[in-house]
Amino acid sequence: MLHDPNRIYVFDTTLRDGEQVPGCQLTTPEKVEIAKSLELLGVDIIEAGFPISSPGDFQSVVEISKAVKDPVVCALTRANKGDIDAAVESLKFAKRPRIHTGIGSSDMHIRHKFNSTREEILRRGVEAVKYAKQFVEDIEFYAEDAGRADIEFLAQMIRAVIAAGATVVNIPDTNGYCLPEQYGARIKYLKDNVDNIGQAIISVHCHNDLGLATANSIAGLQAGARQVECTINGIGERAGNTSMEEVVMILKTHHSVNLHTHIKAANFFEMSRMISSQMRMPVQPNKAIVGANAFAHSSGIHQDGFLKNRENYEIIKPEDVGFPSASIVLTARSGRHALKFHLERLGYQLDKEALAEAYKNFLALADHKMDIDDDDLRSLVTENLVK
Ligand code: KIV
Ligand code: ZN
Repeated sequence: MLHDPNRIYVFDTTLRDGEQVPGCQLTTPEKVEIAKSLELLGVDIIEAGFPISSPGDFQSVVEISKAVKDPVVCALTRANKGDIDAAVESLKFAKRPRIHTGIGSSDMHIRHKFNSTREEILRRGVEAVKYAKQFVEDIEFYAEDAGRADIEFLAQMIRAVIAAGATVVNIPDTNGYCLPEQYGARIKYLKDNVDNIGQAIISVHCHNDLGLATANSIAGLQAGARQVECTINGIGERAGNTSMEEVVMILKTHHSVNLHTHIKAANFFEMSRMISSQMRMPVQPNKAIVGANAFAHSSGIHQDGFLKNRENYEIIKPEDVGFPSASIVLTARSGRHALKFHLERLGYQLDKEALAEAYKNFLALADHKMDIDDDDLRSLVTENLVK
């Protein structure tokens, strides 16, 4: 199934794990519009919803299935026939349908969520895969809370669901609990100890409770996983999911990792703003890759270095992710070089003394005014010339 061993499949769950966030609910037409943009972005799999959860979510999976042609359309279920029947029905127009079924794998979930035993949970997981496989060829199995599961039991479960027909096995760190080296070691353990693992793709699905979702996903990919589950802007349950733009740009920036996706990164900025506005979820200004300050240089030392050679402070070109441009922001921490840059942009060529005078006046102003705009700069220079 895998032609290129270094290709990472990108599974977007903005419309499922992302949409679970309070206040982020979307209408079916909004979801269809987002799904079409995800297709243009080059996403491989779109998790379109959890059809049994509501008639609206069911309908969204139906409409997304009709609207996109290249990506696999995936529907989530729990490990029971009712959920799977609803998913099968909702995917009937999908050109490439996938059912994503699964069950808890940690003793915590087995005992305190399912009030069950390992044996019974294993049986239910296998049954669900076998049942779904009668209708759809492409079956992904999730072992919920795999980050905290007993590793030998997890391996036993993964072996059994692959034998039952799972084509993708998702190892979620549902609670964002693992450290990167621990999560990577889990993936490696499964690669080394599950004898039929070669028949399935391992998928990483990480949550950001400790701010480690992206790092954990990368560790999992380095250990052999070949699908990453993520969302735009890292939106998702509680502290969020792995952010797609971060993973893609890490792989693009670090060639030594030798992994790549088919994502068109230049669409990221527009995609990020679309999700933020449709889901009413602002992007934090210092968010990596797509935050408003991601390419803003504001301290004198950085500005001077950037103006001498952008690469002193720029490891990604803003245009590579569709960001309008880098900016040199003027604040009381800015240096003379940044002021000169902006004055020249406005057409003023000042000699050394005039610049020193303008800079002194600029600092006095910037100590009191947060946003120094072009009009402020013009008056600084004009006042200077009048004196
Ligand atoms: O975080 C999780 O475990 C999930 C599963 C339903 C895949 O979202
Ligand atoms: Zn999740």
